[in-house]
Amino acid sequence: QLAPLPPMTPAFLKTLNTVCQQCYRDFAPDDVELGVREHILQDLESFVKRQFTGARLRLFGSSKNGFGFKQSDLDICMVLDGQETAEGLDCISIIESLARLLRKHPGLRNILPITTAKVPIVKFYHARTGLEGDISLYNTLALHNTRLLASYAAIDLRVKMLCYVTKVFAKLCDIGDASRGSLSSYGFTLMVLFYLQQRNPPVIPVLQEIYDEEKKPEVLVDGWNVYFYDDLDKLPERWQQKNLESVGALWLGLLQFYTETFDFREHVISIRQSAALTTFNKQWTSKYIVIEDPFDLNHNLGAGLSRRMTNFIMKAFINGRSVFGTSVKAYPPEYTSPMEFF
Ligand code: GTP
Ligand code: MG
Repeated sequence: QLAPLPPMTPAFLKTLNTVCQQCYRDFAPDDVELGVREHILQDLESFVKRQFTGARLRLFGSSKNGFGFKQSDLDICMVLDGQETAEGLDCISIIESLARLLRKHPGLRNILPITTAKVPIVKFYHARTGLEGDISLYNTLALHNTRLLASYAAIDLRVKMLCYVTKVFAKLCDIGDASRGSLSSYGFTLMVLFYLQQRNPPVIPVLQEIYDEEKKPEVLVDGWNVYFYDDLDKLPERWQQKNLESVGALWLGLLQFYTETFDFREHVISIRQSAALTTFNKQWTSKYIVIEDPFDLNHNLGAGLSRRMTNFIMKAFINGRSVFGTSVKAYPPEYTSPMEFF
């Protein structure tokens, strides 16, 4: 049981709000930076086409989902014209020959094929921009979840701001790197979206539950239904924004939600439905932090967390709740960037 927080002063709540807004302004890439990413993609595609004639490259992940940082990696998916799925393809040998080809590209360094992972990739470093990237094959579900996240980001600017704040918080606390045993950015983004759906009144709807037809349409990709309502111009006819809270209040609300309200033992973090989903239901009771992928319903983003790491993440949230939830008179004078005082 956590001790109750002292009452918030309006002045501190205002400061909190400024910090959240500033965090977004400081870290969100501008159009030029987004353009650079598209340019690299074009260049790589024409290079790859020398050997793989029908190759098409597409960006996904944070270059496209609305939650990218200046230094975020380039997540690229390759598909071949006339080939719907990866079925019948020898993905490992394609990745290996793609790596051999990319080694000849003058602008790339550190080409590294990784063929043992669940999704085989080839990693690279783009020397001129200092960006890292990887190319995977037929990572089709990722293209769809990128589109889903981008839609949520477009509904309300507070969604974007809160996702940036959470990603910065996760990096600062060292809890946001799946390759080192913690949670991926994608996992944290799903946590933010879930909280915003559960907020009363909600800040975002459940797009996978909105449809015009009598029953939910089925759009199958790799055996999963990737349908969601993406006609955002018409969304106001189906869902009205009733939540008027400030981003600062929502940020503190998020820290409180995951430390005081949400029952991790009992419930799954699931953004595809508004009704509660239990860990028992999913047979996912052996893990404490359970985050269901919105499309691949067998995928738990928290599956790789050790007990130790889970405690470490929960402690970061508890610490965050008390730091951001306790009013102080003023910023430290040496404050220069948003979360420095954390
Ligand atoms: P950054 O930290 O800014 O790169 O965020 P990101 O959203 O691009 O995360 P990352 O590069 O780790 O992952 C790229 C994309 O892969 C995600 O945005 C998802 O679309 C997709 N993805 C699907 N399943 C997973 C998963 O289990 N882990 C991760 N990390 N990504 C997944
Ligand atoms: Mg990425």
